[in-house]
Amino acid sequence: MTTRPYVIDQLISAKSIAARVEALAQEIHDEFEGTDKLVVVGLLRGSFVFIADLVRELDLPVEVDFLEASSYGNSTESSREVRILKDLRGEIHDRDVLVVEDIVDTGHTLTQVVKLLKAKGPARLKTIALLDKPSRREVDIRADWTGFEIPDEFVVGYGIDFAQRNRNLDHIGKVRFTDEG
Ligand code: IMP
Ligand code: MG
Repeated sequence: MTTRPYVIDQLISAKSIAARVEALAQEIHDEFEGTDKLVVVGLLRGSFVFIADLVRELDLPVEVDFLEASSYGNSTESSREVRILKDLRGEIHDRDVLVVEDIVDTGHTLTQVVKLLKAKGPARLKTIALLDKPSRREVDIRADWTGFEIPDEFVVGYGIDFAQRNRNLDHIGKVRFTDEG
């Protein structure tokens, strides 16, 4: 596979992410306190690091499940179609559900996923996204909690990839191509 040469400039440090995740976990705790039936649903693959850190900060009984929906190929272009590649393993009917997404970009993915999950009749369904690019929005949707709003940059790290690379960075960086201009 060939990709254009690029470097990664740090946008959000590992330390800032950790502090924000802790604060978000507190807010989620306050929302779901008392529930004995919270299912935290991570959208694969980009949310896997975020969900791992988030649930470990969450002092509540949780079940963890995953859903894989695709809206991106191996490029920086969004496609409008959202396909379910891997469905949930467990039941969410009458359960409290927290959907964990890496980035809300155009908003198509989260909109479709929420629609699909609501059709399964959860008692309560909330959403959290680590990152939000409001300037890219095509569908009017916002996660109930957002970690950081970021400008229209292609980002990687902390679970998020560029053509399946860089998911293992401990921070969020933006991709800068070195062969342009
Ligand atoms: P949306 O349907 O356009 O909101 O797309 C959301 C999905 O696109 C996210 O879950 C990511 O997987 C992917 N995505 C959006 N922006 C980026 C980015 O900057 N880097 C890597 N993946 C991205
Ligand atoms: Mg995604």
